[in-house]
Amino acid sequence: MRTPYGEPSGALNFGQFAGAEVVFLARHGYGHTLSPHEINYRANIWALKELRVEGVIAVATVGGIGAAFEPGSLVLPHQIIDYTHSRKSTFFEGSEMPVTHVDFTQPYSRLLRQRLIDAAAACGEKVLDGAVYACTQGPRLETAAEIERIAREGGDVVGMTGMPEAVLAREAGLEYASLAVVVNHAAGRGDSVQEIKLEELGAVTQATIMRAVRILSSFFTGAR
Ligand code: HPA
Repeated sequence: MRTPYGEPSGALNFGQFAGAEVVFLARHGYGHTLSPHEINYRANIWALKELRVEGVIAVATVGGIGAAFEPGSLVLPHQIIDYTHSRKSTFFEGSEMPVTHVDFTQPYSRLLRQRLIDAAAACGEKVLDGAVYACTQGPRLETAAEIERIAREGGDVVGMTGMPEAVLAREAGLEYASLAVVVNHAAGRGDSVQEIKLEELGAVTQATIMRAVRILSSFFTGAR
């Protein structure tokens, strides 16, 4: 698709998931070639809006900061702290656009979060209800001191793609929730005291993503 903001990360895939009509978009591109700061978040959200989706479920991997957020956990964040910079983070700019300040007190859709919690309960998968998602610029991982600071500021999990995705969904009037997959201890925590060995994360990541798929399957079964 083309949008006024350029092209989305890749083709939008239409299909059925557990009997429901879904559109899937791989935000990093289908060859996983777009770094978090290179993603055209505006084009992605615009395209989904134009397709009249009912809502957006963002699946994303994160590092765990708080003790409750061990690798292998699934988390539904309820809050965001944005540490990104220089990303195109609003639709409301340019001379023709009126100045617009959207409310973002509660950055995730309460309804969509609850439906995901119910879907997880229905299929017996554990998900952690509530976390502060800290969004860093990347693509490098954080230093241990940065994670210490984020922890002091209230961050529970850390990722690189939650913003401006969430706020653009809000600006577009789309229900948006994130299903976060904890794949590693954040820098300086747990077994990441000396370094984060992302290449060793394959097995936990794979198994946890399969649990996320089960929750989504339960969600869409309920949504049919
Ligand atoms: N930091 C930032 N983003 C991430 C991490 C992390 O430790 N793990 C997965 N995405």
